[in-house]
Amino acid sequence: MSLSCLVWLLCFIGQARSLLEVIQAATPPRLNLSTPTCRQHIFTHSFGNSYGSPFVGYYNPPSNCAYTTTIFNLSVVSRGRQYDRLATLWLGDVEVWRTSTAMPTQTGIHWSFQKDMTIWDTLLRSRDPVKIIFELNNIIDGDRYTGLFNATLEALYFNDLYKGKGGLHTAEHIYAISTQSSSKNTTSLFSLPEDSGAVNLTLPRNARSAVVSIMASGNAAEEFWFTNVPTEYVNTFPGNEGWLYGYSPFREVQLLIDGQLAGVSWPFPILFTGGVDPGAWRPIVGIDAYELPSFEIDITPWLGLLADGESHIFSVRVVGYDTSAEDGIGSVGENWWVSGSVFVWIDHESRETTTEGFRSEIASPSFEFRPTLGMHTAENGTTTNTSFYYALTATRSLKVSSKITSGGKSRLVSWSQNLSYSNIQNMTDFAFNQSLAMISSGNHSSSASDIVSSYTYPMNLFSAYKVQSEGATTHPGSVFCGVDRSKLTNGISILSFLTGTSTGPKTLKTRQNVTSNYHWNSTIVEGTAGVDTMDGEVWFSSSSTPGFKGGVRKHYHYAKAKDDALVEDRKGWGTIPVPSTEPLPVFEGEPEV
Ligand SMILES: *[C@@H]1O[C@H](CO)[C@@H](O)[C@H](O)[C@H]1NC(C)=O
Ligand SMILES: *[C@@H]1O[C@H](CO)[C@@H](O)[C@H](O)[C@H]1NC(C)=O
Ligand SMILES: *[C@@H]1O[C@H](CO)[C@@H](O)[C@H](O)[C@H]1NC(C)=O
Ligand SMILES: *[C@@H]1O[C@H](CO)[C@@H](O)[C@H](O)[C@H]1NC(C)=O
Ligand SMILES: *[C@@H]1O[C@H](CO)[C@@H](O)[C@H](O)[C@H]1NC(C)=O
Ligand SMILES: *[C@@H]1O[C@H](CO)[C@@H](O)[C@H](O)[C@H]1NC(C)=O
Ligand SMILES: *[C@@H]1O[C@H](CO)[C@@H](O)[C@H](O)[C@H]1NC(C)=O
Ligand SMILES: *[C@@H]1O[C@H](CO)[C@@H](O)[C@H](O)[C@H]1NC(C)=O
Ligand SMILES: *[C@@H]1O[C@H](CO)[C@@H](O)[C@H](O)[C@H]1NC(C)=O
Ligand SMILES: *[C@@H]1O[C@H](CO)[C@@H](O)[C@H](O)[C@H]1NC(C)=O
Ligand SMILES: *[C@@H]1O[C@H](CO)[C@@H](O)[C@H](O)[C@H]1NC(C)=O
Ligand SMILES: *[C@@H]1O[C@H](CO)[C@@H](O)[C@H](O)[C@H]1NC(C)=O
Repeated sequence: MSLSCLVWLLCFIGQARSLLEVIQAATPPRLNLSTPTCRQHIFTHSFGNSYGSPFVGYYNPPSNCAYTTTIFNLSVVSRGRQYDRLATLWLGDVEVWRTSTAMPTQTGIHWSFQKDMTIWDTLLRSRDPVKIIFELNNIIDGDRYTGLFNATLEALYFNDLYKGKGGLHTAEHIYAISTQSSSKNTTSLFSLPEDSGAVNLTLPRNARSAVVSIMASGNAAEEFWFTNVPTEYVNTFPGNEGWLYGYSPFREVQLLIDGQLAGVSWPFPILFTGGVDPGAWRPIVGIDAYELPSFEIDITPWLGLLADGESHIFSVRVVGYDTSAEDGIGSVGENWWVSGSVFVWIDHESRETTTEGFRSEIASPSFEFRPTLGMHTAENGTTTNTSFYYALTATRSLKVSSKITSGGKSRLVSWSQNLSYSNIQNMTDFAFNQSLAMISSGNHSSSASDIVSSYTYPMNLFSAYKVQSEGATTHPGSVFCGVDRSKLTNGISILSFLTGTSTGPKTLKTRQNVTSNYHWNSTIVEGTAGVDTMDGEVWFSSSSTPGFKGGVRKHYHYAKAKDDALVEDRKGWGTIPVPSTEPLPVFEGEPEV
C-alpha cells in the first residue's frame, strides 16, 4: 500500500465517522474480521460523471501470505444530491458482485459491506494478474446531481481450516456467460432483450460437476417489473400515459443450453434505495440492496452431452407473460442487466464423462389471469376507467436428469424445480394509487446433496403519488408508501457446498416493513427535511453450517428506524423470531386487493 493511499484511507476513516451510516442486515462472512493473515488495498476511486468509465486495474494475489479465504470489503462515502446507482464488480469477464448504492444526503452518508469471495478462488489465484473492473455509472450535472460515490475496495485474507469432507475444493474452471469485453476495459453485462445473452463455451471432457450462477436485475422500464401490467393495459388511464409499463408483472430468467431449457429463476423483487419512495430506505436499505442475489442451476446432468470437446451455446433469456401467446410466454421491456458464470469441477481420474438416459421433463408454465376494470359512466354517457384490478398466478415444474459415468463410476444426477407465483394488484386515481400483494415461492433440488431447498418471497406494497404526470420526478411532488415484505429461504447453496465453504443447509428469515411520506421540489432524489416522515423495521435471522472454524453458525440483526435515524440496532450470534409479513393496514385511498 502506498503512503498517499494510507493517508487517503486515514482521512476516509476520519470522515466516515461524521457521516450517517446506511445499513443493510446481512450475515457477516466470518465471526471475526478484525485479524486477517494479510490484507491489501485494491482500489480507491471517486465515481463522478462516470457513465461508461469504470475503474479498471489489475488484481494480484497477496505475496508471502498463506491463506484460504478471501473476503472483499467495499466501502463507499457520498455527499450531495444523487440517485441510487447500480454497480458491478468483475474479475476479467466474470461478474463477482452486483451491488447498488444508498442515496446520499447533503451532510453525507457511508456504508461498508463484506463478501466472501472464496468460491472465485481459481480466478483470484491466477498466475497472471487478472483485470479487475468496477463500474458505477453516475451522473454529475452541475447543480442538480452533485453526489459523487467514493468507493474503496480492500481484500482481507484468512488462513481458515476447512473441515468438511475433502476440505476446501474450489472449482477448477470458471467460464463467463457475458459479452466477454474485459479486454476492451469495459464490463461484460448483457442488456436484454436487445443482446443475444449467448456465448459459445467448450467445457473440459472430464468434468465431474458443473453449476451455473446467474445475476439478473431489471432496470429502467423493468425496475418495477412486479408492478407492470399486461401490455394491452398500459393505456388504461388516458391522461397518465407512460406511467404504467407493459409485459406483465411476471418475469422468468431462463438458462438454455444449445437452445434447451436447463433451469429458471422467478426473481426476488429488489427495491433499490430510490425505489417507489426514496424516503423509505435510509438509514436501512432494502433487502439485498448491497449484494444483489444470484441464483444457481446445477447442470451436471448435461455433462455427458457437453463432454464432446465441441463448443456449446449457453444463453440467458428473460421472459414475461403475454395474454395472447399460446404458451403465455412473451417478451420483456428495456432492460435487464444479465451475466452468468459456469463453475466446473474436474474428475482427475477420468478422461471423459459419458451419459446415458438424458431426460428433460419440462412443460410450459401455467398461467391464470383475471382482470377487472372499474368504470364510471357520466350522465352524458362518457365512460372512464376508475380502477384496474387484476390477479395473475403462475406455476411451473421442471426436471432434468441423466446417468453420467466418469472414472469408471456411474451416478444418477438431476436438477428439479417447482415454482409458484401470485400477483394481485389494484390501481385507482389514474394508477397514481397502486396496491400490490405478491408472493413468489418454490423449491428446488440437485443431486449434489440430498437437501431440498425452498424459498418464499411475500411482498405487500402500497404507493400513492401526487405528481404532474409530465416530468413526475423533476417537478414538485410527493409520495406516501407502505411496504411489508420478507425473504425466507431454507436450503443449500450448491456452489458453497461443492467448494466446501459450507457443509450443509442455511436458513434465512428476514422481514422489512416501512411507511414513508416524502416530498420533493425540483428532483425526486431530495426530500424535505422537517416535513418527510418514515418508520421502518427490519428483522434478520440466519443459521448456517459453515465449512470452517470461524464461520458464522447463527446471526441476527434487528433494527428500527425513524426519520433518517436508527432508534434501535441490535445484532449478535444467535437467532431471533422473525414476525411474518402481514397485509398492510388500510391506508387512506388504498385500493382494495
Ligand atoms: C476478534 O479477534 C481479536 C483478536 O483476537 C479480538 O481482540 C476481538 O475481540 C475479536 N472480536 C470479536 C468480535 O470476537
Ligand atoms: C486498460 O486498463 C489498464 C489498467 O488500468 C491500462 O493499463 C490499459 O492501458 C487500458 N487499456 C486501454 C485500451 O485503455
Ligand atoms: C472496511 O473498510 C472500511 C473503510 O476502509 C473500514 O472502515 C472498515 O473497518 C473495513 N471493514 C473491515 C471488516 O475491515
Ligand atoms: C470524494 O472524492 C472527491 C475527490 O477526491 C472529494 O473531492 C470529495 O470530497 C469526496 N467525497 C466525500 C464525501 O468524501
Ligand atoms: C457459436 O459458434 C457458432 C459456430 O461457430 C456460431 O455460428 C455462433 O454465432 C456462435 N454463437 C455465439 C453466441 O457466439
Ligand atoms: C379502459 O381500459 C381499457 C384497458 O386498458 C382500455 O382499452 C380502454 O380504452 C379504457 N377506457 C377508457 C375510456 O379510457
Ligand atoms: C361528459 O362529462 C364528463 C364529466 O362530467 C366531462 O369530463 C366530459 O368532458 C363530458 N363529455 C362530453 C362529451 O361532454
Ligand atoms: C416438485 O413437485 C413434484 C410433484 O409434486 C415432486 O415430485 C418433486 O419432488 C418436487 N420437486 C422438488 C424439488 O421439491
Ligand atoms: C411493522 O410491523 C409490526 C408488527 O410486526 C408493527 O408493530 C409495526 O407498526 C410495523 N411498522 C411499520 C412501519 O409498518
Ligand atoms: C421545497 O419547497 C418548500 C416550499 O417552498 C420548502 O419549504 C422546502 O424546504 C423545499 N424543499 C427542498 C428540498 O428544497
Ligand atoms: C390515493 O391515495 C391518497 C393517499 O392515501 C388518498 O389521499 C387519495 O384519496 C387516494 N385517491 C383515490 C382516488 O383513491
Ligand atoms: C379496487 O379498489 C377500488 C378502490 O378501493 C375498489 O372500489 C374496487 O372494488 C377494487 N377492485 C376489486 C376488484 O377489488
